This record gives sequence, C-alpha cells and structure tokens, in this order.
Amino acid sequence: MVCIVQQPCEVALKSIFAIGRKEPIMSKSGLEGVIVGQSRLSYINGDEGELIYGGYAIDDLARNTTFEEVCYLLWNGKLPNRAELDGLKVELEGARKVDHRLLEMIRQFPHDADPMAALRTAVSAMGLIDPQANDNSEPENRRKAILITAQMPVLIAAYDQVRAGKEVVEPKSGLDTAANFLYMLNGEEADDARVRAMDTALVLHAEHGMNASTFAARVTAGTLADIYSAVVSAIGTLKGASHGGANVEVMRQLREIMESGTDPKQYVRDTLAAGKRMMGFGHRVYKATDPRATVLRELADKIMQGSEAKYLTLSDQVRAAMAEEMEAKGKKIYPNVDFFSASVYTTLGIAEDQFTAIFAMARVPGWTAHLFEQYANNRLIRPEAEYIGPRGLKVKPIEQR
Ligand SMILES: CC(C)(COP(=O)(O)OP(=O)(O)OC[C@H]1O[C@@H](n2cnc3c(N)ncnc32)[C@H](O)[C@@H]1OP(=O)(O)O)[C@@H](O)C(=O)NCCC(=O)NCCS
Repeated sequence: MVCIVQQPCEVALKSIFAIGRKEPIMSKSGLEGVIVGQSRLSYINGDEGELIYGGYAIDDLARNTTFEEVCYLLWNGKLPNRAELDGLKVELEGARKVDHRLLEMIRQFPHDADPMAALRTAVSAMGLIDPQANDNSEPENRRKAILITAQMPVLIAAYDQVRAGKEVVEPKSGLDTAANFLYMLNGEEADDARVRAMDTALVLHAEHGMNASTFAARVTAGTLADIYSAVVSAIGTLKGASHGGANVEVMRQLREIMESGTDPKQYVRDTLAAGKRMMGFGHRVYKATDPRATVLRELADKIMQGSEAKYLTLSDQVRAAMAEEMEAKGKKIYPNVDFFSASVYTTLGIAEDQFTAIFAMARVPGWTAHLFEQYANNRLIRPEAEYIGPRGLKVKPIEQR
C-alpha cells in the first residue's frame, strides 16, 4: 500500500510511530501536512488563526503572563504558582553568569559577523565547556535548558557590545529576562512599557509546534546527541530567511521603501511582479492572520511615539497593499509574526541584524521543551528519499570518463 499523505492523518501517525515502517509513505514536498510526532506543547489551527500553548490561547498568555511563566508552562505542563515562579526566577538569575572563557571567545569574534553566526558559535561553545554536556539525563537536560535560556540573552548582548568596541555589560540582579536584556543591550534600564513590550514579544515567540527549527532540534536529539548540539541545529535552521531570518528582511524592505520614497503599493506590486516575496507574509500553516501578528500590531501602537510611528504607518500601508494584491490573486497570504516584530524591535533600539537572535532567545524554552519530549520517548527520526537518479551504471576506469 502506498499512502499519499496530504492531510495530517491517523494513518500517517500509526505508520510512522505505532506500527513502524512497513510500506513507503509518499509525503508532499516540504513535508507539508505530515505529522511527524506527538507533542503536548502547542497547537495551531491555521484556518482559524488560532495558537495555544499547553491549553492556553496565545492572546491570553501574551496579555496576562510573562516570559518566565511561559517557560515554566512549557517545561512543566502547567502555569506556575507564585512560589514556583519565584523559584524559576532564582534559578534563571543564578544561571546568567557566563563562563569567562566563553566571554573571552566572544571578544575574539570578528566585529562584522552575522549575530546569528555569533550566537550559534557561542551556544556551541557552551557545550564545549560543560563537562556534563553528554549527559542526556532528565535532571541534567533541565539544568541545561535553564542555563541556555538564561545565558542566550547575555551572549547576544555581549556580542552587540563587543562589536561596537564597548565593554560587556553584566546582567543586573533583580531584573527578569526582558528587562535584563534591554539593560545589557543599551547600558541602562528601559521604561516599563518597553520592558513589557519586549517581554510580550518573547512570550509570542516561545513555542510554535513542529516548525523547521524545532524539527531540526528534535532530529538531532533523536540520534541521542546532546541538548547543546540540538539547540545549535535549531539556531542554524532558524537563521534562514524563510524562517526566523524573515524579521531582518522585513525591516530591510521597510527601509528600502522609506529611503527610496517609493509608494508602498507600487513597491508591493513591483516585488510580486518580479517573482519575489514580501517578507513577513505567508505561512506554511496559517491561512488566516497569524494571531501573534495581531498582538504585535497592538504592541507597536503602544510603544511607538513621535517619529517612530512612521514604521507602523508604513507597515499598515504595506499590509493593506498586500491584502489587495492577494485578494485579487485569490491567495490566503497574511502577515506573520515577523511582520510587526521588526518595527517593534527597531523601536526598542535593537539593531536590525540582531532581530533573528532575539527570536532564538525567545524560542529556547519551546525548543528545549520539545527536546524533553524527544529524549523521554525517543525513536531515531530517519525518513527516506524517493530516488530519482539513474540506475545500472558501470564504473569506467578514470581515464575513460
Ligand atoms: C513562510 C513561507 C516560506 C511558507 O512557504 P510555503 O508554505 O512553502 O509556501 P510556498 O512557498 O509553497 O508558497 C505558496 C504560494 O504562496 C506564494 N507566497 C508565499 N509567501 C509569499 C510571500 N511572502 N509573498 C508573496 N507570495 C508568497 C508563493 O509565491 C506561492 O505562490 P504560487 O502557488 O502561485 O507559486 C513563505 O510564505 C515565505 O517565503 N514567506 C516570506 C518569508 C517569511 O515571512 N517567513 C517567516 C515565516 S513565519
């Protein structure tokens, strides 16, 4: 039997997991619609524009919880009570101190490197210097998840300071992830509205089903490689413009429109006519507006003041132009999470090329929670390719080829 998997279906699940492979399953290109595993972490209804983490709607979490509460939810399957939250905050604070050898390495990085390359290398180096790196036991993996989550913002901010020729700003005691990150990046504490905006952006990016970087992380863990290796795989995968790298490209497009003085409608038309994509639009799963984009649009509205509002005005014009074009073409392509996050981060004073690194530091709890699931119920993830090359060739001596 050859099953053509077009929709997530019971047959696919059973074939891959319960029964084990007996017959080849032909999947759609890009594994679209293929269920590759089970997870309790999040659910996306792409047609309705719905996203939930551990049972809670993203909108509710974005408005009523913090990044630390969401970390707890993803790692433990329930929202924390006060004592549990305080305990996690203490653990995160205690884990923020970066090893001096790692900081020394970052000081040696080229100043013009891609911040995602710097982050990928720094997280890899965390595994290099951790004597327990290869211990995949649950307590060790939980310790490492906290360590990576706590240190990634410090590493990103440290590289930002180093490349600007400045001294690295140490994390400040008593500040949570979002406040600490803005403090280390800008050398001063941000106001409450900006901290809340940063925190909400982290909540919105924390988890997202079997996205490409999470899948890459799970594939790596599936071989029983260590959690650092899995997170490095995820960072490398997030870097691409079709995934997390899109937020950098969104800002480039907005700047291009602004600096050239092109009419946004014309820019959208010209881009599409040239067969290119408008960045920050479209999604493999959402065929309605990404609910995270809606929250980020509101957030942008709250924090942008005076001349900063120009990004939002332009974003709205681009969105309207895309809506018109897509409607005319009958395509369900709407803004995704990266569209408004670009202007939110710019307003928070974050350098454009750092945007994807921020996505990474927000996604660590999601990645690591998936890794807990993978290690707890592991089976090597090893699909097959449909061979379309030649057969029956005979090797000729090298002089005759
Ligand atoms: C996210 C993305 C890679 C999903 O890709 P996908 O599910 O493989 O969809 P496809 O690449 O098959 O595209 C389907 C159709 O929509 C069109 N499309 C998808 N995204 C588009 C975009 N951003 N702008 C214009 N057209 C787009 C494609 O041209 C294609 O049209 P066609 O059927 O006429 O050839 C894609 O939407 C994209 O490149 N978006 C821009 C990058 C981005 O914002 N990424 C962040 C995602 S959170």
